[in-house]
Amino acid sequence: MILFKTTPDIHNHLEKLRTGGSSIGFVPTMGALHAGHLSLVDQSKKNTNITVCSIFVNPTQFNDPQDFARYPVTLDQDLLLLEKAGCDIVFLPSVGEVYPNGTATGEKFDLGYLESILEGKYRPGHFQGVCQVVHRLLEIVRPDTLFLGRKDYQQCMVIKKLVALSGWNIALQFVPTLREPSGLAMSSRNMRLSGEDKEAATAIYRSLLYIKQNLRPGVVIPLVETARQQLINAGFSAIDYVTIADAETLEEIVTWNGKTKTVALVAAFIGGVRLIDNMIVSSE
Ligand code: PAF
Repeated sequence: MILFKTTPDIHNHLEKLRTGGSSIGFVPTMGALHAGHLSLVDQSKKNTNITVCSIFVNPTQFNDPQDFARYPVTLDQDLLLLEKAGCDIVFLPSVGEVYPNGTATGEKFDLGYLESILEGKYRPGHFQGVCQVVHRLLEIVRPDTLFLGRKDYQQCMVIKKLVALSGWNIALQFVPTLREPSGLAMSSRNMRLSGEDKEAATAIYRSLLYIKQNLRPGVVIPLVETARQQLINAGFSAIDYVTIADAETLEEIVTWNGKTKTVALVAAFIGGVRLIDNMIVSSE
């Protein structure tokens, strides 16, 4: 596994590999790696010749400075895990390397309504920050295929839009969410949960399953309300959203026609940690 910290070094190395005919898979991360990230590396290894993983905690996508300050950093362990997973190249840039002209680039990505709903509504500016960093990383790595986790459902849609806007010929693979045996979706943020809160947080998975098992054509509001109540009863202190949406457009569904592919999405706080999760709740 080779580590690069500067843009020209990784760029030149990848250019040589590309010229030699290698396809490049890219897994962007913010570190604090877990089995979910490693499943992205695994997919990349299966589908491309060279797997590049970046570790960069991007300051511009945190709307809450406290959240940025508390984001877990476990670099030594991350590198061991990536080496063991067979990752070929790790990119570990500094803030200055990613944003040579400063973080306020003034660049604005036209994400349309995706930017103002769900995560966009509760984390203003978040998706512009995600696009800013992913755009820059894609420029540097120029992968053939980009691997993203489905746990960040809306992020997958936003990055799909970013790639389309940029006109790049990059294939996207969205990799299914990995869960703990308890059902809790794997997330770097789980590291900040106490044992008790981690147990209680499994209510998100149960509430999504409840929606999936009880979704019927007609008005879905009571179903969503029950799921929301389940989270409160389990000890969640605040809920940003529990919603059922069109799986292709993310537009909220109030009355389900029994046909549209739907996804249920949750964002809620427990023990001061904000967790998100989602599940396709109509038959696929
Ligand atoms: O999903 C993440 O970890 C981040 O949003 C990403 C895509 C690495 C951009 O910083």
